[in-house]
Parts: sequence; structure tokens; C-alpha cells
Amino acid sequence: MTDSIKILVVDDESVVVRSCKRILETEGYEIDGASGGREAIITMEKKAYDLVITDLKMPEVDGITLIRWIKKSRPDTGVLIITGYPSQETIKEALELGIIDYVPKPFTPAVLADVVGRAVEWKKKKVPEEEAKKEEEFPPSMIAELDKMIKSHRNKPGCLIPVLQRAQEMVGYLPPIVQKRISKGLNIPAAEVHSVTSFYSFFTMTPRGDHIIKICLGTACYVKGIEEVLGKIKENLRIDVGGITGDKRFSLEAVRCLGACGLAPVMVIDHDTYSAVSPKKITQILDEYQPVSK
Ligand code: FES
Repeated sequence: MTDSIKILVVDDESVVVRSCKRILETEGYEIDGASGGREAIITMEKKAYDLVITDLKMPEVDGITLIRWIKKSRPDTGVLIITGYPSQETIKEALELGIIDYVPKPFTPAVLADVVGRAVEWKKKKVPEEEAKKEEEFPPSMIAELDKMIKSHRNKPGCLIPVLQRAQEMVGYLPPIVQKRISKGLNIPAAEVHSVTSFYSFFTMTPRGDHIIKICLGTACYVKGIEEVLGKIKENLRIDVGGITGDKRFSLEAVRCLGACGLAPVMVIDHDTYSAVSPKKITQILDEYQPVSK
């Protein structure tokens, strides 16, 4: 349960605030609402929040101005944005300011709960001590190679994404310790490195299994019953979204739309797309992916 996590939802559309409140309160969060940036700042001057979920386009004090204020005056508060246009251009400035992630509009309860849950988990991590321990898990030669690669990109414009791609190829994923080395090596704020890592779906912050299951929690799939499919997968594999099976055979990821809404509900395993998938088919589908001999 997620008790005592306080979240402020800021949107000039009251229906969005009400929806977030309804969905997130059932997840155990404490939710307040504000109708714009000005009201949000006044509210935050009186009460501390773990997370702020804000729209970008709002009259008077907009989302970017609000995020700047939060970063300066309430740096411990994490920020998620809600946007109808999740392209890099529209949220570029927000990414540079160090938001944790974004929620696409319109959103389903499952997507909102997933994005908020991951943001809360990320915020809770006691990074410095755990990072020090995790660093020992990587062979020194790998760390040295990583540092060498980062150094070779330093001062090159637009180098962050290529460095993240290369680092993921080398390490297999992008844990906090790797992001921290990249941040330090390229002299880019850690929050920006994290924002970019979580924005692009081809980056992962957790180790992946031999087969990657991507389950779509977008609106069309949600309406067609993807939650029951997800429940069956979780039951079969005994893992949650973001998890990996003990034998490293499967990892399970949630995505917001696979671009095949007409075939909903949809899931993808590696490069295979399964359309109109139902809970009854899950066991048979998973059985097709035999363990990979090592
Ligand atoms: S919503 Fe699932 S594929 Fe688009």
C-alpha cells in the first residue's frame, strides 16, 4: 500500500483533476487538486507534497513556470506532467528541468496508476548508499569501458541519447549507478539523464529477461479487457509489471500504446504481436517461448 504519499494534481480542466483523484485515491494516495499554477504554488507553500502531476498548458502561471518554481523552492518534490502531445518537442523543456515522467492524455486508470507507481518507487530509492553497493556488482573492466565511452562523447552536442544507447548495449540496462556516471561524465544534471531515460521506451532501468513481454495499457486495449490478460500473465509468471522471472526467461513491461489499437487488446513478445488476445490464450502463448540454453 502507498499510504501517506501526498500528490497534488494541477490542471485547469476540473474533470482531469477529478479523474486523477478518483483513480489515485483507490491506490491509497492522498490527493489534492489545483486549477492552475498560481493555486498550486499557494497550496504548496502551505503543504509539502511527494509528487506534483501538472498540465503544461494553463492560463496565467503555466506548467513550465510551475516546474521551475518547484525545482527551486521544493526540490524534493517529484514532478510528472500530463500532456496530450507527448512528443519530445512539446515536453523538451520539462525534460530538461528534470521531470520524472509524463502521463499521456487521455489516460486510462491503469496507465495513470502505473506511471505514478513507478515515479513514487523511483523517488523512494535511497540512491547514494544503494548505488555504492550496486557499483560493486559490475566488473571493474565494464565500469572502465563505460567511463571511456562516456569520455569519448563529452562536449559533443546531442550526445546524451547515443551515450545512453551505448551504455544500455554494454550493461544491458540503465540502473541509477550507470545514469549517475553518465551525468557526471557528460556534466548533465542527473534529473535530466533520468528524464530522458524514462521518456524513451527503448531505454530500460531494470534488467531484462530473454523474452520481453510488452502489454498495452492504452485506452483501446483497456476497454477491450487488457487488465484481465495482464492478470493472467502475472498469475502465470508470478511477477508484476517491471519484474523479471527468477529464471530470467521473461520480463514484463507496460506500454501506453503499441500503435495497433484496431487489434486491441494487444501484447508483444520480442518482435511477435498478439492481437485480440484473451486470458485463455496466455498459457499457450507463453509456452511457445522455451528457455534459452545458456
Ligand atoms: S491502445 Fe493498445 S495498441 Fe493502442
